[in-house]
Amino acid sequence: MTDPISQKLLPDNSSVDTDGMLMIAGVRIDTLVAKYGTPLFVYDEAHIRSRCQQAVRAFGEGVSYASKAFLCTAMARLAYEEGMHIDVATMGEAHVALEAGVPASHLVFHGNNKSTTELQYAIENQIGRIVIDSFDEIDRLESLLGDSGDQIQALIRITPGIQASTHEYVTTGQDDSKFGFTVSNGLAEDAVRRAASSPCIELLGIHAHIGSQVFSLDSFRKAAEVLANLSNHFELPELSVGGGLGVAYLEEEQSLSIEEWGLTVKSVCDEAGVTARVTSEPGRAIVASSAVTLYSVGTIKELEGIRTYVAVDGGMHDNPRPALYGSGYETFVPGRVLDSRTSEITLVGKHCESGDVIVSQGYVPEGLAVGDILATPVTGAYGHSMGSNYNKVLRPAVVFVNGGTDRLVIRREMLSDLMNTDMG
Ligand code: LLP
Repeated sequence: MTDPISQKLLPDNSSVDTDGMLMIAGVRIDTLVAKYGTPLFVYDEAHIRSRCQQAVRAFGEGVSYASKAFLCTAMARLAYEEGMHIDVATMGEAHVALEAGVPASHLVFHGNNKSTTELQYAIENQIGRIVIDSFDEIDRLESLLGDSGDQIQALIRITPGIQASTHEYVTTGQDDSKFGFTVSNGLAEDAVRRAASSPCIELLGIHAHIGSQVFSLDSFRKAAEVLANLSNHFELPELSVGGGLGVAYLEEEQSLSIEEWGLTVKSVCDEAGVTARVTSEPGRAIVASSAVTLYSVGTIKELEGIRTYVAVDGGMHDNPRPALYGSGYETFVPGRVLDSRTSEITLVGKHCESGDVIVSQGYVPEGLAVGDILATPVTGAYGHSMGSNYNKVLRPAVVFVNGGTDRLVIRREMLSDLMNTDMG
């Protein structure tokens, strides 16, 4: 690898200033670092808006942003403004979306084990759709609603029996899964009948999610076939194919577009004569490539003939994906974005374990020095949202940039934040 980082891995509105400094939405990276410090997540707001628009064009009314990928009130508001509904998987995600001003009717509540408190919360707040995942959940809903005469609107999560090719930790459509009602053994049909006959439930449709970071349109096609059959059989008005569209993290990878995904799913449903409203809930495909993470180089350790460790001020607390799934990322130096990357490094964080690797094989221009700013692209999904306070590290700030201006949407944590829940 010697080429400069390619444009396809950078946010849409990236450009290079005359001195070789990366700009995102017209804002220089060194200006952001001077203002907010590192580690820092920088999101290109117009990039996110354009992906939301693509999703709405491809699927239409009801398409949801899967907020687990990245959530704060600014993000929820943005997705809502662009016409998306919001998929939430916990009371916490629902709370943030509601705080952002998203109407409860636009929320879709998921989860394989929603607690009674969460279901109560969903009922009280009149959340738009509850995606029912188990018979226990139906029992729980019935006992909460009792004979009040009130009904919740629901979808049934089915397990279509599709093994999507992705990391085993994020496959969810195969029969051996903790999620949903299996189609192959008849449980899905039983669940639809049970929910449809419940006085507490207005059953609107069925839902499936086969996994995340899926590149095979064929897997989506197969799942859509299973959903289409069931949907037609029960003549339900809504059908959701979940999320899961894969994105490119590495130079050699190629993303599919939201449009291609939508066309694939819709054509299967059209062929099967589906009349239900067909929708989806992308997370990663909306935000992943809209952001980069900026780090400062703290130490460089050269092991002659073995490798060069470059340690930065972040790590598994802002991006646990490499440690969890062995996910690969690229590296680049935003101040020298057009330079060839001829030097191989292993980018590591500051945590007390050897697994705290951000990029096992990264490339940077010659002459990287302590104090330089280093970046990893495509960090907009499942980085900040899966981040932690491990080692009592302070979680990074997040800025949105747009049209030459920047705004802080999540401030950097302070030492006092660590004491918020500590009862002494
Ligand atoms: N809908 C449901 C019901 C889901 O469970 C998920 C993701 C999505 C939609 C959105 O999937 P996406 O479009 O973002 O692939 N932490 C892992 C990914 C876990 C995804 C969990 N569910 C990662 O970093 O790769």
